[in-house]
Amino acid sequence: MDSIPFDAAYWTARYHAGRDAWDVGTITEPLRAYFAQLGEPDQRRILIPGAGRAYEAEWLHRQGWPNVVVSDIAPEALTALQQRVPDFPAEHLLLQDFFAMEPAYDLIVEQTFFCALNPSQRPAYAQQCAHLLRPGSKLVGLLFETSFGNPQEPPFGGTREEYRAYFEPYFDFVHFDTAHNSIKPRQDRELFICLQRKSL
Ligand SMILES: C[S@@+](CC[C@H](N)C(=O)[O-])C[C@H]1O[C@@H](n2cnc3c(N)ncnc32)[C@H](O)[C@@H]1O
Repeated sequence: MDSIPFDAAYWTARYHAGRDAWDVGTITEPLRAYFAQLGEPDQRRILIPGAGRAYEAEWLHRQGWPNVVVSDIAPEALTALQQRVPDFPAEHLLLQDFFAMEPAYDLIVEQTFFCALNPSQRPAYAQQCAHLLRPGSKLVGLLFETSFGNPQEPPFGGTREEYRAYFEPYFDFVHFDTAHNSIKPRQDRELFICLQRKSL
């Protein structure tokens, strides 16, 4: 696995080959339900890293959230959002490596990005989320709690015990349990997480 760089060329090739089974074509219910209870749109800066075609960003934008930022290293992903939602602010579409991003955000949304990274990058993912978030703000989303067929390529699975160790240094655990409203293929195979950035 360490011989394959999961870089922009790798992800672009997967999009072009249609090897994009993660793409469910719409916002997923756990995230829709979480966003719906946030209340009226406000100025919070919401980051969706490794956003892919970014249906969650589209949903938030259509609800009136003005500061939704998506980042991805594959141009294909950002172009798809731009074409579906021409009035999505171009300056909020970042063709950028998550690990090179700068603060500050009030919410980071996770879905099938963590599992797309080489597992050796997981500690750095937790650290970068903490770096990007203002103290007291949150990392919210879904982490697979399962294993997958191909150990050489994403998606990579794992366990809640493993994940807990990455996030504990930086976050308080508000919620960290099996999602109750997953889409069918992911039922009982993913955790819903709500982690609050510690004030260190
Ligand atoms: C499995 S896809 C998930 C897409 C989206 N989150 C979804 O649920 O549909 C992983 C995405 O992460 C992007 N990606 C991989 N490494 C990245 C990095 N270091 N920084 C930003 N995006 C990255 C890929 O280009 C791809 O679009």
